[in-house]
Amino acid sequence: KKRIVSGVQPTGSIHLGNYLGAIKNWISLQNAYDTLFFIVDLHAITLPYETQQLSKATKDTAAIYLACGVDTSKASVFVQSHVRAHVELMWLLSSATPIGWLNKMIQFKEKSRKAGDENVAVALLTYPVLMASDILLYQSDFVPVGEDQKQHLELTRELAKRVNYLYGGRKWKKLGGRGGAIFKVPEALIPPAGARVMSLTDGLSKMSKSAPSDQSRINLLDSKDEIANKIKRCKTDAFTGLEFDNPERPECNNLLSIYQLMSGKTKEEVAQECQNMNWGTFKVLLTDSLIDHLHPIQVRYKEITSESAYLDRVLAEGATKAADIADATLNNVYQAMGFSRR
Ligand code: TYM
Repeated sequence: KKRIVSGVQPTGSIHLGNYLGAIKNWISLQNAYDTLFFIVDLHAITLPYETQQLSKATKDTAAIYLACGVDTSKASVFVQSHVRAHVELMWLLSSATPIGWLNKMIQFKEKSRKAGDENVAVALLTYPVLMASDILLYQSDFVPVGEDQKQHLELTRELAKRVNYLYGGRKWKKLGGRGGAIFKVPEALIPPAGARVMSLTDGLSKMSKSAPSDQSRINLLDSKDEIANKIKRCKTDAFTGLEFDNPERPECNNLLSIYQLMSGKTKEEVAQECQNMNWGTFKVLLTDSLIDHLHPIQVRYKEITSESAYLDRVLAEGATKAADIADATLNNVYQAMGFSRR
């Protein structure tokens, strides 16, 4: 079976963008692939954060995975920091990563601009190397992510090829390795719809955990009233009728796409259903589809979080399975790079 890995940071609340860009797609992949889904707590400390909240946010994020339908009889779910190999491989990969590659990362540039020089940790710069380590440790074939992670995936691919070139192949064979590639070169899986869910208050910026206004996003755990309220107040436009893909109507395209994915209809069905609608009618429809889709997730979330021993067991088992695979890769890398082994 081909292998898939992906993860979400346990920062703030998980929103519709995380769900439609990533988690929802994991669910449909877990039957056909060998899947590992982690909570990337080590990535969450690259910007200022609350130590008292990290552990709870990590478990809550795991509970969201399960509530959304990640099936632990098929997928391994674990916490990144519970598998030591992630940080260890990161160091080894760091030595093969040109700093220029990291300086070019859009997310680094954006986040560091917002944080201001004194607050930019080295880890914010090296963050994509840790992400590459998350992926390459498992010899992953595919990585389902939203559009904003595309550049990080591209870097991961380049890094895999570079390490294979520098330390793999014939050189490695001489050292007693099996020759050939050290890492599989993974591919991003970016969904045709939902890869870039936009803010409810501005159709030109991405829905994000860090946007100051909660009005800008639908969180998976928002109550019915919160959802209704946010949709009532979300930004629209003054055109008549509703349509996809009009560059002058980013909000319209975004809200129709959300409706499409929440209702499970096709784009064509939605385009036809909504072409003559006004915003008032559509907003009721959208609100209902969001509530209908998210309610069962919220019910399951409550069940899962009411019994914390269950979640702990899932995460412990997940970490054990993951560590087996990760340690094997890590050992190969040490060997290929010429380290003495104990
Ligand atoms: P994070 O936690 O920012 O986001 C988690 C996932 O949600 C997607 N996403 C979106 N998709 C559509 N529209 C949006 N508005 C939106 N906002 C976020 C992201 O693309 C992502 O798939 N570095 C990663 C986490 C990570 C990771 C990994 C992912 C660390 N190691 C290894 C895959 C494999 C991040 O910060 O995602």
